[in-house]
Amino acid sequence: MTILVTGGLGYIGSHTVVELLNNDFEVVIVDDLSNSERFILNNIQEITGKKPVFYPFDLRRKELLAQVFDAHQIDGCINFAASKAVGESQLKPVDYYENNLFSLINILQEFKTREISNFIFSSSCTVYGQADVMPIDENAPLKMPESVYGKTKQMGEQILIDFAKAYHRKISVLRYFNPIGAHPSGKLGELPIGVPDNLVPYVMQTAAGIREKLSIWGDNYPTQDGTAVRDYIYVVDLAKAHVAALKKLIEDTSAEAVVDTYNLGTGKGSSVLEVVKAFEKANNVEVPYKICSRREGDITIAYANPEKAERELNWKSETSLEESLRTVWEWQKYLNARNS
Ligand code: NAD
Ligand code: WQD
Repeated sequence: MTILVTGGLGYIGSHTVVELLNNDFEVVIVDDLSNSERFILNNIQEITGKKPVFYPFDLRRKELLAQVFDAHQIDGCINFAASKAVGESQLKPVDYYENNLFSLINILQEFKTREISNFIFSSSCTVYGQADVMPIDENAPLKMPESVYGKTKQMGEQILIDFAKAYHRKISVLRYFNPIGAHPSGKLGELPIGVPDNLVPYVMQTAAGIREKLSIWGDNYPTQDGTAVRDYIYVVDLAKAHVAALKKLIEDTSAEAVVDTYNLGTGKGSSVLEVVKAFEKANNVEVPYKICSRREGDITIAYANPEKAERELNWKSETSLEESLRTVWEWQKYLNARNS
């Protein structure tokens, strides 16, 4: 079976491509390299011994996308391609709506006319905002996210529900909590382009001396140590969930519309300070930090109830926080060696 993976050279996409190839899927990647680099393709090949087909173009180029569907018998799609920087999305709302929604719609147009099913969408726990009840299950009320980025995810989900219903297609919406870590080979990871917004890349760069000090945004939250709590999920575990979700869609041969929604997390909340301490312990390095005021738009606490994914996909996260953070340091060493 041939799976189109958009954004397949990005952080989560590249790890998922490896898992797909390891599970004998054929993979066709479309990625415009707007937030990734070409060497990742070679590294995927080094890890798996297989080379996916790669098309470097922007999914907003409808005519090029149609050519990909003409050239390959596509059986499904995992759509990672999107712009994902929360802060930037506030400054460039139209660009975010255009990239994240037009890319999605262009693929769905091809799916519609060619009668293809099996579509997996990268959504986010951001669609829950600050949920009232922990852990968060899939029935928790959705709250309109504050960020434009978050809104594109909520809108994307809605577009897919309408698409599935109207054309009787099978969709899986995967709501990731906070993905972290790198491939155990040390050859895939999150590429730090510019100053990182996210916690773990910033911790990694601080430990490496690229940043002077980590700013911890707030220590007066009502949590175990006053710092905010999130559910950090190892990226390889997350990648495996995509294969499980895809197999479930493929195995379902009914002609009914399907919209499966899963929360993908560990089920455990960790505070910012706990992450810093775990990183220091895992890698025997120091992470200098200072306490600053809260970051605008941040929520206090979010962690998943991943039981639905365990029950229906036979998937659960397996890797500890410390082990995930060890892979992050290996990735930093790889980047250091590449840059030297
Ligand atoms: P990433 O930026 O590393 O990967 C996205 C890839 O898509 C990049 O390689 C980029 O070059 C490509 N891309 C973007 N726009 C494109 C376009 N118009 N045409 C072709 N390629 C395009 O991001 P990631 O962290 O791997 O995230 C993957 C998906 O998961 C995104 O949809 C993101 O919103 C979602 N998500 C990420 C997180 C996270 O914290 N990383 C959390 C929840 C959801
Ligand atoms: C985690 C915690 C920060 C950086 C974002 C998106 C969300 C989803 C995941 C895509 C928070 C604290 C961070 C730093 C810090 N992405 N922090 N100092 O905010 O949970 O979610 O990424 O869908 O949509 O909003 O992740 O990694 O930015 O922050 O103290 O330098 O670390 O305040 O409590 P977040 P994050």
